[in-house]
Amino acid sequence: MSEAEAFTYRPIGIIHSPHTDPEATPVQGAFARGVRGVVEVFPPYAAGLKDLEGFSHVYLLYHFHLSCGFSLLVKPFLDVVERGLFSTRAPRRPNAIGLSIVALKGIEGRTLHVEDVDILDGTPLLDIKPYVKRFDEVRNPRCGWHEGIDEETAARCGGRK
Ligand SMILES: C[S@@+](CC[C@H](N)C(=O)[O-])C[C@H]1O[C@@H](n2cnc3c(N)ncnc32)[C@H](O)[C@@H]1O
Repeated sequence: MSEAEAFTYRPIGIIHSPHTDPEATPVQGAFARGVRGVVEVFPPYAAGLKDLEGFSHVYLLYHFHLSCGFSLLVKPFLDVVERGLFSTRAPRRPNAIGLSIVALKGIEGRTLHVEDVDILDGTPLLDIKPYVKRFDEVRNPRCGWHEGIDEETAARCGGRK
């Protein structure tokens, strides 16, 4: 495999949310508690939703379709210090892939009703994966520069609007 090799992903659906302004959108689902969204899965992929209703949370992987270019050093939304891009969740990345964990409130046909959405309306969906506690729970994590940001500052900067 060479550095120049490219991959093509096609959207499997579309994410709808109340967020239309990137500057006003919460910076993470943790600051968007209760914010509802709807995930429409395209018909060819609908059968893959079988058995998903038993999960309380799902990961949505998506394309930051309004993001252009990237910088390898960025000032994160919650900090005033420049950080390495890969130590942040900044939306401008070499591969503009977003990852949000959302609460799954219900499924009707090929429509998922979700909450805790930090994603702009009209965002192309790349994949859905269930949150599985036994796989995903991390004990005693270290959170790098985030450990220097107090909760009050995070909540003030993270909720935007
Ligand atoms: C900091 S990112 C975090 C997103 C995700 N939770 C993650 O960690 O990958 C959240 C910000 O991305 C921006 N955003 C959301 N959806 C986008 C999209 N489709 N295109 C470009 N920017 C988007 C919004 O400005 C939002 O505040």
